[in-house]
Amino acid sequence: MHTKSKQAPSAGEETIGRRNFMGVAIGAAAAGAAAVVPFAAAAQGAPSPTPPTGRPAAPNGPPLGPPPGESLRPPGGANGPRLYRVEADIKDVEIDGKIPEDLSGAFYRVGPDPMYPLAPRNIPFDGEGHVSMFRIQNGHVDYKSRYVRNDRYKAQEKAKRILFPIYRNPMMDDPSVKGLSRSTANTHIMNHRNYLLSLKEDSPPAALDLLTLETIDPNYRFDGQLESAAFTAHPKIDSETGDMIAFGYEAKGFGTDDVNVFQITPQGKMVWSAWIKVPYVGMIHDFAVTQKHIIFYVVPLAFDKAQLESGGIHWSWYGGQPTYFGVLRRGGDGKDLRWFKGPERCSTHVMGTFDDGNHVYVDVEMSQYNPFPFMPMRDGSRWDPVKGASQITRLSVDLSKKSVKDYQMETLYPGFFGALPRQDDRYNTMPYRYGYLPCPDPDPKDKSKRPSACWVRFDNQTRKAQIFNAGEGTTLNEVVFAPKSKTSGEGVGYLMGVANRNLEGGRGDLIILDAEHPEAGPLATVKLPIRAVPQIHGLWVPEWQLPAKSA
Ligand SMILES: [Fe+2]
Repeated sequence: MHTKSKQAPSAGEETIGRRNFMGVAIGAAAAGAAAVVPFAAAAQGAPSPTPPTGRPAAPNGPPLGPPPGESLRPPGGANGPRLYRVEADIKDVEIDGKIPEDLSGAFYRVGPDPMYPLAPRNIPFDGEGHVSMFRIQNGHVDYKSRYVRNDRYKAQEKAKRILFPIYRNPMMDDPSVKGLSRSTANTHIMNHRNYLLSLKEDSPPAALDLLTLETIDPNYRFDGQLESAAFTAHPKIDSETGDMIAFGYEAKGFGTDDVNVFQITPQGKMVWSAWIKVPYVGMIHDFAVTQKHIIFYVVPLAFDKAQLESGGIHWSWYGGQPTYFGVLRRGGDGKDLRWFKGPERCSTHVMGTFDDGNHVYVDVEMSQYNPFPFMPMRDGSRWDPVKGASQITRLSVDLSKKSVKDYQMETLYPGFFGALPRQDDRYNTMPYRYGYLPCPDPDPKDKSKRPSACWVRFDNQTRKAQIFNAGEGTTLNEVVFAPKSKTSGEGVGYLMGVANRNLEGGRGDLIILDAEHPEAGPLATVKLPIRAVPQIHGLWVPEWQLPAKSA
């Protein structure tokens, strides 16, 4: 395992070895300089300094930030509603400030919004997919939300009870739904051929109308071209051609070690497909695509057959297992795939990627181990929030060296702990400069309180960070970039995302920032009179990509 990055194109790089990386993570938490990472909504400025149940305080420091996935629980604390379930149409939402004149399009979000309280042993990643849309036009904003009407939703609606009680465990399903798609369609959304694809990585997408959010096809298989049993929640759009590159894991069915990777044109034609095998079956939530290569990262959040048979969820953290960084050529048959080995780590999302000659670089959120407190530890140990904290980490390999067996790691922004990184999506497959991340305030003034929620803009050339601090009592969801125009440069545009106001029962605000100056605060705040639906991921679709009328 190499921990020194010998070469990378960005200026001002600092290489941190494993020992130092751990020191940064532990030291920062202990000193209260940075709290630990939230998953779905990053940081939360809680009204009380009391740590959540089961969440230990850092030694000699303030309470740690909320655990990953906390934002998927109903906001508003103990006084908040247990379930949400409100489908809404709100015209001309109240706005503080002014919507920029060149901001026109739709901001979509999706997340799990359980129809019924989660069953015991289930986790907050489960729950039926609920899509919401902020339609922005001429300085006005309309809000709409609809559940995805897929097989699962309709079966439970008819039965008036839970029929799929445990996350990705078909053994626990009600006998009446055997053979039905288990998809929640609750994780991410993409715009493809004027369909809004609502994605869950264990199933094919659901296709929705971009304007009405009505479900058109609950099991969309790309006109029969989809070979894989599953479709990732994180497809990439080729920065040059507009093609969609995607994959499915467990692609030959439940628990299989097959991955199918493929490319589909904007017109919907599948033009490339390859099959590979993974070293072991673990969660492959995201991947990276450069102009030349496809990169997978296998982590020991691993398929757990015994746990499934005992009525538990699909995954457990298999401590002590290595990670694997796999690289294959685009357009090939997959036989050139090389796996590079590394120590126990976890990574869920990619911020950006590039290749430089024979070097391949992938920037990810990375923790020392399981980042999710609700994912069981296979050895029964107690979850450690410090080891579960994620930092933006650059993984790299030099493909010219045939004897190299390991990948390299470098922590890019020490002191910042967060998850759900994004970029200007026009640079999905090209070298990129700017990344965006929700994280707790890295330097809170009052260290007796839980750090407030921030969005950070990272500049990979200068290694500087600009911070928007949402203040106390707010949870921030993922932040998404919207360009000013088709031709504006990288990072020139707006950042937007939803804030939950925890002191107002979780009421939702859409916050819009100047992407070049997030520290200046909101240009506009779109003030919903209700909670926004829960969110894992969001998507900006500009006006020039929206259809004139519904399908
Ligand atoms: Fe994701």
